[in-house]
Amino acid sequence: MVKVAPSLLAADFSALGAEVARAKEAGADLLHLDVMDGHFVPNITFGPQVVAAVRKHTDLPLDVHLMISEADRYLEDFAAAGADIICVHVEACLHLHRTITRILELGKTPAVALNPATSAHTLAHVLDLVGMVLLMTVNPGFGGQEFIPAVVPKIEQVAEEIRRRGLDVALEVDGGIDRKTAATVVSAGANVLVAGSAIFGCPDIRAAITSIRQAGAGALQ
Ligand code: DX5
Ligand code: ZN
Repeated sequence: MVKVAPSLLAADFSALGAEVARAKEAGADLLHLDVMDGHFVPNITFGPQVVAAVRKHTDLPLDVHLMISEADRYLEDFAAAGADIICVHVEACLHLHRTITRILELGKTPAVALNPATSAHTLAHVLDLVGMVLLMTVNPGFGGQEFIPAVVPKIEQVAEEIRRRGLDVALEVDGGIDRKTAATVVSAGANVLVAGSAIFGCPDIRAAITSIRQAGAGALQ
């Protein structure tokens, strides 16, 4: 099954409650929240307070993508804010195994994200601990960037490794996902598709979510 996770980065921040309700109504499977610190990535967004505010408006799973340098310092805050999935970048975690273990202790689903230039081998010793892997298909920091096709072989590689180990690990992609690239990434093995501008940039977000989901599902047939 292909899941679609609208990224709130492209939503109207002045009306987040309404945007969250609109995304649910339109068929979102989960909500993707991009936390940026201006250090790990060259942009700043929001922190746990906004996650907590969104939590009040929806029962959809909250997929919190931490693009921050010192994730360990904030895990408890994001867990308390109501995150369901806490996703950390391998490039930002010096003690990745410890960080993942802490997320598990907090009762949340750990996910690990890889930048486009980061090797899939960095997952080798943590793959059996996480609920999801996030492969960035753009360099993190901004919405509306162009999909990087060089990541496709890495999607295939990680999907194959998950299968080979018989793991129940979701494979998410993030960046430049639209109807067209959805088919490419799902053929390669992705099953959770994050999309910001391709969803919130459309007047009819239900149609946008449906077309991304169908393009992905169609690629599986
Ligand atoms: C980028 C973020 C993405 C972003 C994707 O660093 O991680 O989640 O919102 O935006 P689009 O879908 O517009 O590429
Ligand atoms: Zn993201």
